Amino acid sequence: MRKAVYPGTFDPITLGHLDVIAQAAPLFGELVVAVLHNPAKRPWFDLDERLEMIRDAVASFPHVRVDAFSGLLVDYCRASGIECVVRGVRNHVDLQNEMAMAHMNRALYGDLVTLFVPTSPEWSFVSSSLVKDVAMHGGDVTRFVTPRVARALAARAEGMANRHA
Ligand code: PNS
Repeated sequence: MRKAVYPGTFDPITLGHLDVIAQAAPLFGELVVAVLHNPAKRPWFDLDERLEMIRDAVASFPHVRVDAFSGLLVDYCRASGIECVVRGVRNHVDLQNEMAMAHMNRALYGDLVTLFVPTSPEWSFVSSSLVKDVAMHGGDVTRFVTPRVARALAARAEGMANRHA
C-alpha cells in the first residue's frame, strides 16, 4: 500500500489544509496527517486539541489517519515506512520555502519524494496565522475553518481578551 504523510503545525487546521487533503488522499492507500509537536513554537492549541480538531475535520475522508510527530520529519517517515511527503502550495513564496524543505528532506533521506499540491484559488490567501489574527480581533472566520475550529478559535480569543481586560 502506497502511504504518504501530510505534515504540518495545523494551529489550527483550515479549509485550505482540508482542500489539500481532499486532493491528495485519493492518490494513496493511506494519507497520514502528521502534526508537529513542538512546544517551542508556542501554538494557540496544544497537541491534543489540534489532533482532535483534525480528526473531526477529516472524519468523512476514507484512508486518512491522524498522528503526531516530534523531531525530524525524515525520521518519522523512515520509522513509518513512508516515502512521500505532501505539501500544499498557495503561491510563489510558499513554493520557494517548500522547495528548500523538499531538497533538505531529500538530502537527509534519499528515498523521500515531496509532492506539491496547489491549493485551490479560494484558499490561496488563507493561513492558520491569518485566521488566528482575525479571530483574535473578533472577526468572522467561519468561511475559512470548520465549525468545530471556529468555536475553538472564538473561545481562545475570548479567553485572551478576558486575560488582558
Ligand atoms: O505547517 P507548517 O508549520 O508549515 O509545517 C512545517 C513542518 C512541520 C512540515 C516542518 O517544519 C517540519 O517538517 N518540521 C519538523 C522538523 C524537520 O524535519 N525540520 C527539517 C525540515 S527541512
